[in-house]
Amino acid sequence: MRVIAIDGPAGSGKSTVGRALAARLGLEYLDTGAMYRSVAFAALRQGVDPDEVESVARIAREIELRLGPDGTVLVDGVDATIEIRGPEVTRAVSIVAANPAVREELRSRQREWARKRGGGVLEGRDIGTVVFPDAALKIYLDASPEVRASRRSKEVSDLSYETVAADLARRDALDQGRAHSPLQVPDDAVVIDTSGLSVEEIVGIVSEKLG
Ligand code: DC
Repeated sequence: MRVIAIDGPAGSGKSTVGRALAARLGLEYLDTGAMYRSVAFAALRQGVDPDEVESVARIAREIELRLGPDGTVLVDGVDATIEIRGPEVTRAVSIVAANPAVREELRSRQREWARKRGGGVLEGRDIGTVVFPDAALKIYLDASPEVRASRRSKEVSDLSYETVAADLARRDALDQGRAHSPLQVPDDAVVIDTSGLSVEEIVGIVSEKLG
């Protein structure tokens, strides 16, 4: 099984680099953050408070998820592609992602996804540390908080830079400080600061490591 694990904070370039790398290597790509976002979306839609640990865990186990190669996301048959990136889901997702039963369920779905395909490019926060500690290659992408916030605020044009920067700082703290699978740099990862680099340059650096 050939797994490429990409981890890093929000706005570090994981999705763009992950997609480009998967296309170059002829592998499929999985955005695991979209899975956590989908569980948060389903909870909000069902009127379940993200803090209700048991109910949210049940939702994670029962949810039917379809993540298309073009980035479309179907949650129980409902197109949630736009809404999972919206402010409500973004606010709720860190709480959902801190729920150990949710993590256990999604981790097993991620392993199953890769097993069925003989590998793939997976990106998230705990892919190299927890989900695939034996990945063929582990990449940790980072960038300064200013660069990450400015990338994100270009994606969500209806929010100010200040709002996006504050939200990013709040999520960084929650993702890094949680008890279960916090965001960490895997020991054997290739660490790349993407601040001043183009996608092509980053994919070039990673491809060299693959040999
Ligand atoms: O990458 P993203 O911003 O779409 O991720 C959404 C949230 O999900 C983020 O707050 C961290 C969490 N997450 C996680 O805990 N583990 C993963 N493997 C992927 C995302």
